[in-house]
Amino acid sequence: MDQRDYRRALGSFPTGVTIVTAFDPDREPWGLTANSFTSVSLQPPVISVCIAKAGRVFPTLSGSDHFAVNILSAAQRDLALHFASDVENRFTDTDWTAGSAAPLLPGASAHLECTVHDRVDAGDHEILLGRVLDYTHRPDPPLVFCRGSFFAAPQPEASP
Ligand SMILES: Cc1cc2nc3c(=O)[nH]c(=O)nc-3n(C[C@H](O)[C@H](O)[C@H](O)COP(=O)(O)O)c2cc1C
Repeated sequence: MDQRDYRRALGSFPTGVTIVTAFDPDREPWGLTANSFTSVSLQPPVISVCIAKAGRVFPTLSGSDHFAVNILSAAQRDLALHFASDVENRFTDTDWTAGSAAPLLPGASAHLECTVHDRVDAGDHEILLGRVLDYTHRPDPPLVFCRGSFFAAPQPEASP
């Protein structure tokens, strides 16, 4: 399979954009940009995200009982790029707060604070299933990713 062409095919699927965060054992914040987020179950509330095993954030996420999913707003495009970049510490000069068990990024369209429900080995990624313990959301337009570019989600037309 031509990997670049395969990735282009996958990029045809528009997604939202999240930053998945967790604390390491020294309570240092870690996080990465991830568009593999999906809602899995409503009762109980379970979500999933796929994390590359080779990434620097993986050891923290695989060692933590809790994590948070920050669903980015359209205004957070630069943050999405920052949390996918090679910068040493992504939280230096980034505005963040400590949620009950994971770092939260202000300005997100939604925050989901999770406890680990299960982990599924899946090739070069791990599927991290999270049981949602708490959440917040705001009406800001979410950030969308498709074919390598970021967009603002269209706002629904006002009801008559
Ligand atoms: C829009 C976008 C979506 C991404 N989605 C994921 C994802 O779902 N899972 C993942 O492991 N990496 C994903 N990445 C790549 C990671 O953000 C990036 O490779 C990662 O931060 C590498 O850093 P690390 O070595 O610190 O883990 C995505 C990158 C971008 C720009």
